[in-house]
Amino acid sequence: MAILITGGAGYIGSHTCVELLNAGYEVIVLDSLSNSKAESLKRVKEITGKELKFYKTDLLNRRELEMVFIENHIDAVIHIAGLKAVSESIKVPLRYYHNNIIGTLILCEVMQKYGVKKIVFSSSATVYGVPKRVPISENFPLRATNPYGRTKLMIEEMLRDLYVADNSWSISILRYFNPVGAHPSRRIGEDPNSVPKNLMTNITQVAVGKLKELMVFGNDYPTVDGTGVRDYIHVVDLAIGHLKALEKVLETTGVDVYNLGTGIGYSVLQIISIFEKVTGVKIPYKIVERRSGDVAICYADPTKAKKELGWVAKREIEEMCADSWGWQLNNPNGYE
Ligand code: NAD
Ligand code: WQD
Repeated sequence: MAILITGGAGYIGSHTCVELLNAGYEVIVLDSLSNSKAESLKRVKEITGKELKFYKTDLLNRRELEMVFIENHIDAVIHIAGLKAVSESIKVPLRYYHNNIIGTLILCEVMQKYGVKKIVFSSSATVYGVPKRVPISENFPLRATNPYGRTKLMIEEMLRDLYVADNSWSISILRYFNPVGAHPSRRIGEDPNSVPKNLMTNITQVAVGKLKELMVFGNDYPTVDGTGVRDYIHVVDLAIGHLKALEKVLETTGVDVYNLGTGIGYSVLQIISIFEKVTGVKIPYKIVERRSGDVAICYADPTKAKKELGWVAKREIEEMCADSWGWQLNNPNGYE
């Protein structure tokens, strides 16, 4: 079975490549390297002892994309490629709409042309906007609050329309909560080309001395200690979720949506304290203003993925902190 992974050189993509190769799939990666480095794929091969095929190309380049489908017998696509920075999407929305929506549109057109109708798509919990309560189930109302989130919502709608028009498609939409951690080998992890903004990357940057202190965005939310609560999920669990979703799309037709989260929420202060305990490194922090657009609490009801995919996130928060730190320590300059 040959699987095309778009965005396979990135953070979640590289971990997904490892799980697929270990499960015996043939892996073809397409990535523009706009936010990643080819070194990640070298390390994927080193971790698994297996080969993969890599096309450095952009989804927006229809001609090159078609070549990938002509040169390979692709059975299914795991579509991870996309731009993902919320704050950037507010500043340059057209870039996000163009890259994420047109990129996916071209991908689906090419898939249709070459008779490949099985796709697993990377969506995000951001499509729930401000949830009316927690835990969040897949049938909650959808309302994105920024251009990035709207690209995910629009793509979800496009995929649903595609299935309505032709129900030989098989589509799995995965809504990730907050991916953190790295492969336990410490050879692959998150290495964005731009400045990190997420909590765990900022914590490891403080721990390694690259940032002086962590800014905690608000301590007056209606939560356990006033700081924001999120559902952090180990990237290896997330990658295994793709494997399970892939197995389902290969077997059936239909369109399904799954939350991929642990179902447990941790506050910012709880994360700092667990990180300090696990690593023995002190994280100096300062409480600052709330970050605009943040919600107080967000965590998943992951029951559907358990029931229908047989998938459960197994790695605990301590392991997430240890692996995030291990990656940072062993690769202080990322893949460089
Ligand atoms: P990432 O930036 O590490 O990976 C995305 C990859 O896609 C990069 O390697 C980038 O070079 C590639 N890419 C982007 N546009 C492309 C294009 N037009 N053609 C070819 N390649 C392109 O990000 P990630 O954290 O691995 O996220 C992967 C996916 O998961 C994204 O779609 C993101 O929106 C989604 N997601 C991420 C998170 C998160 O917190 N990391 C949460 C929810 C959803
Ligand atoms: C987590 C908590 C912050 C940094 C983002 C995207 C979302 C999805 C995942 C792609 C919040 C607090 C953070 C810091 C802090 N990505 N925080 N100091 O905002 O839940 O989700 O990544 O789909 O769309 O919005 O994640 O890690 O940025 O924040 O206090 O330096 O940590 O306020 O409560 P978020 P995050």
